[in-house]
Formats: sequence, structure tokens, C-alpha cells
Amino acid sequence: MYRTHHCSALRASDISSTVTLSGWVASRRDHGGVLFIDLRDREGLTQVVFRPEENAEVAAAAQHLRGEDVIQVTGRVAARLAGTENGKLDTGAIEVVATALIVLSKADVPPFPIDDDVANEDLRLAYRYLDLRRPALLNNLRQRHRIVKIVRDYLDDAGFLEVETPVLSKSTPEGARDYLVPSRLHPGCFYALPQAPQQYKQLLMVAGLDKYFQIARCFRDEDLRADRQPEFTQVDIEASFIHRDDLLALMEGLFVRLFQQVLGRGIPAQFERMTYQDALNRFGSDRPDTRFGLELTDVGDIFSASEFKVFRGALDSKGVVKALNAKGFACITTGQIEDLTNMARQYGAKGLAFIKVENGGWKSPIVKFFSEQEKAALTQRLGIEEGDLVLFGADKWEIVCEVLGRIRLRVAEIQKLLEGNTDLNFLWVVDFPLLQFSPEEGRWAAVHHPFTRPKDEDRSLLECGDYAAIRAEAYDVVLNGVEIGGGSIRIHESDLQARMFDALGVSAEQQEAMFGHILKAFRFGAPPHGGIALGLDRLVMLMLGAESIREVIAFPKNNRGQDLMSKSPAPVEPRQLRELHIQPRAAKPE
Ligand code: AMO
Ligand code: AMP
Repeated sequence: MYRTHHCSALRASDISSTVTLSGWVASRRDHGGVLFIDLRDREGLTQVVFRPEENAEVAAAAQHLRGEDVIQVTGRVAARLAGTENGKLDTGAIEVVATALIVLSKADVPPFPIDDDVANEDLRLAYRYLDLRRPALLNNLRQRHRIVKIVRDYLDDAGFLEVETPVLSKSTPEGARDYLVPSRLHPGCFYALPQAPQQYKQLLMVAGLDKYFQIARCFRDEDLRADRQPEFTQVDIEASFIHRDDLLALMEGLFVRLFQQVLGRGIPAQFERMTYQDALNRFGSDRPDTRFGLELTDVGDIFSASEFKVFRGALDSKGVVKALNAKGFACITTGQIEDLTNMARQYGAKGLAFIKVENGGWKSPIVKFFSEQEKAALTQRLGIEEGDLVLFGADKWEIVCEVLGRIRLRVAEIQKLLEGNTDLNFLWVVDFPLLQFSPEEGRWAAVHHPFTRPKDEDRSLLECGDYAAIRAEAYDVVLNGVEIGGGSIRIHESDLQARMFDALGVSAEQQEAMFGHILKAFRFGAPPHGGIALGLDRLVMLMLGAESIREVIAFPKNNRGQDLMSKSPAPVEPRQLRELHIQPRAAKPE
């Protein structure tokens, strides 16, 4: 028997019993011949003491122990000396006085100490198995396990069946870039790793599965960020004979249960719903962080006859002028204004006009163009007071929203508006646009995917070709400014689907080649259906207060898409490529 207890089990009530523990040497302290060791396993720490007077041979052997050696210790549970108890440790009242020691495995000196404040993430990722010995990361994995278990139980209770769908699937031209897998048996042909099990889950509805879910791995070859990985996990859900509001209520119930059971926190039983249009107009984002105000305000009407050509120009070409009032931020430095302006430019703005309200006056390079009337209207609209900083965007609606939305977040960061904030602001963003014109491709593209249903009341717009105005029966769930899930009610009628493909400019041949299987399936009786996918990694990250989704994934890729531990991606043998009918490009151009 390797152990009688785990390393967090022993209490004062165990004193005098003989026990065996196994684990890693977390630390050693030599008190002049008496050696103290903290023994670590998944559950926690136990102090083990080697006393020469207890067993000279064992104590001598223990002198050779080093950090991270794996050992088995047998001994007697004893009370710690009065005054040396450790209240922070579950086992802090006792220690184990060793009478036998077996070294199960010796450890090299680890490249970094196994504690909670190691720096370099690349080094941590290269030795992830050591990184995961840290209690903080271990706890993240433990909580992730609990979260997934609660999700499974909740959906099982609600009548959902968990079904696995293929990882070797077919490339479809939607969303992000696919990861491709060459076929050995079919030269020149490729599987694609699924960006999401979207088509399979819809086919399961045609199959009559009624309520499906899957903890599904998804693969997307896109640029990585703190909350994006090339492979990530979705809680993927689809249901038949369901209306949007039933689905949203199902998800709200799931979040209520999760936050109650994992964090002991109550959240509203119903989340606020905000239209996409409102979200952009007020917060400049389709995933608004509503934990703070700093809302965007339209001031176009005030400047309709302005002498300031930047504002007039934007309005004359059917654009907008919007402003945000950063209360008490007139103290912004010139350097910070420059940084914000550069940021605005990076997101497509031509500049970032501003007014500082200081010492009873408006300090701004543009205020000389404003009439008294315009100033008065602006003061009233934005509630301008001494100490405020007002920032303006003037351009096309999309650009102004995007730019001021980013500026809003940055200003909140600089002003530390979220410091100490523990709110959990859930909201649904609903009524996304169905289609978006892609200037690069010169055609309309689906904002989500081509199976997303237009809202019934907007069907006539589809008929008359007013594509920009069509709203989709699509929704995202947002928590504190992070999109943690998204989905839609789908098109289940072939005639509507054909109309949608028409709008997307997908020819009959292309439809057949790309979506033939699903279109065919829909001709054999498709139930009305809809679904959603939650980004599990993001959800766990937010629930645990982690900085990045890498902190809640056992073996994540770094932000260059590499696994630094196994060193993948990596070259393969020429023989493997030949078998796959792949001709590597010559390393050097001829
Ligand atoms: P969507 O593309 O919005 O929807 O994805 C659903 C959720 O998955 C998370 N997510 C990611 N998490 C980590 N890394 C990534 N690279 C990444 N990309 C997305 C987000 C997102 O909200 N099939 C549809 C769902 C449906 O219509 O039912 C879909 O995949 O939190
Ligand atoms: P200009 O007349 O181009 O020198 O700009 C005067 C001020 O307006 C500067 O502070 C610019 O940063 C700002 N500005 C210029 N274009 C825009 C725009 N499209 N939106 C908001 N501010 C702008």
C-alpha cells in the first residue's frame, strides 16, 4: 500500500495513529539534524519530521532528500509543538514523525520553484507538468472539472443527450480559417478539424435527437489573444421545437446553478437583453461591459450646421458624431492623449477630438469652431462639468462605435473604474444583423453562419433586398464585457435557405459542393430548431478570476500557437509526407 491517507487528511484526532503517506518533497528545513519536510500531493501538504533519536538510519537517509523527490513515508502522527501549529494548513495541528522512508523517485533540480509566483510564462509552458503542481493551477483544473460536471448534470436533468461528433470533418467556407488534415487514402483530399460541431448538431436535430449537447473541442486557425486558443472547448447545445426565449431561459438557469454551486454567488434569474444596435450605440461594442457607465452619446444633431469641418464632413457624408464624457479626467496628460489618439487611428479613426474642462474654461484645439449655442447644447447633453474630458468621434457609424468603444475601455482602465469591482454583469445581446457587406469580396456575407434565421418580422426585407436592415434571430451572452457564448435559431425550411444562399451569392453548384449534405437532409423533414455554444474556457477563466484562458487549460498553446513542451508544431519525416501525397516546398528557393 503506497498510502493510508492523502496529504491533506490528517487532523488532531489522528494523533498517535501510524500512517503512510506518498508524495513530493515540497520543501525541506534542516534544524541541526532534525529535518522537516513538507510532503505534497494533489490534496495538500503534511509536515513530516525526521528525528535522529526516533530512527537514526531513516533520519540519515532523509538528509539526501531534495525538492520534488517522490517519497513514501511511514510514521506516527504527533501533535506539533505548542506555538508551531500552522493555522493556514488543514493539517497544521499535526506532523508525522517518520519511522520509515522509501525514495520512489529522485528529481532533478526544477527549472523554477514550484510556488505561486513564478514569472516567465514560456518557461512555465515548457515544463507545464511542473507548473501544474502549483496549487493555483491545480485548483483551476479541479474547478473546471466541477463546472463541467454541473453543466452535464444540469443538461441531463433538462433531457439533453450528450453525443460525440467527428473531429475529422469537412472544410466549409465560414468563420475562421480551418486546420486541415491530409488524407492518405484519398490523394489531394483533406479533412478539416471542426471550428464547431454546427452542422452535425443540426443534422442530429433532423435525426430526431431533440435535445443535444456536447463538451466539444473546436479548432480555429486564427490570431491568438489572452482569451483565444487554436483549440478550445465549447459547451455545445442544440434543441428542437424551441423558441428563442425558452433557450435563453434554459441558459440563464444553467448560469444561476453554476455560480451558486461553484462560487456561492446569486445572480439574477433573468439577464438584461440589449439589442445589437443599442449595444453599439451606447457602448461601442457588441459585448458591452456594463459594469461602468461612460456611455457614448450621439451629438450629431448639435453639430448639423457646425463650422468644424471634421464634424460637418462626417455628417454630410451620412456619418455620425458621438462623444463620451470621462468625468474628472481633464487631468489627462498630453502623452496619454497621444496614446488614445494613436489607438483611435489604429481602429480606423482619422483623429480624436477632445475638450478638457479646466479652470472654468474649455481647453481644446477645436473649441474655437464651436458656437455658443453648440457649446450650451453640448454641456447639457453630456452633463459637462469642471474637470471633465470629452472625447469625440466623427466618421461612419461603424467606425465611430468601434473606436469610441475601444477608447471607452481604455479610459476605464486608466481611470481604474473597475478597481475592486466584483459585479457579475450578465447580459444578452440580441437581434444581430443577419448579413454584412464584405467590401473585399464584393458580396454580402453571413454575420454568423448561413443557417441563421432572419427574424420573422424582417422576412419582407429579405424579399425586397434591403439586406443591411435584416435582423437575425441570433444572440450572444456576455459577462463583464467578454462574449462567453453565442447561438441562434436556425433556418429549417428549404425555400428560406435557398433565399438566404441567393442573398449570399452562393450559386447552386457551390451550395451543393459545400452544404449539399445538410441541404439534402433538410428535405427529409427538419424540425424547427436552435442552439448555442458557450466558450467553456472563457467561462471558467471568468469564474475563477484567471487572467487568461491558458490558466484554465491543462496544456495550452502559447500566443504563437506552439506547444513549448512537446515542441509542436514540428517538422515530420519526408516519408510521412510522401504517404500523404504532399510535396514539401523546397527549403530554399531555386
Ligand atoms: P461562436 O463562434 O460564437 O459560435 O463560438 C461560441 C463561443 O466559443 C468561444 N470561442 C472561443 N474560445 C476560445 N478560443 C477561441 N478561439 C474561441 N472562439 C470562440 C466564445 C464564443 O462565444 N456554432 C456556433 C454556436 C451556435 O450557433 O450554436 C459557434 O461556434 O466564447
Ligand atoms: P484637424 O482639423 O484634422 O487638425 O483635426 C482637429 C482635431 O480633430 C484633432 O484633435 C483631431 O485629432 C480631431 N479629429 C480629426 N478627425 C477626426 C474624426 N474623424 N473624429 C474625431 N476627431 C477627429
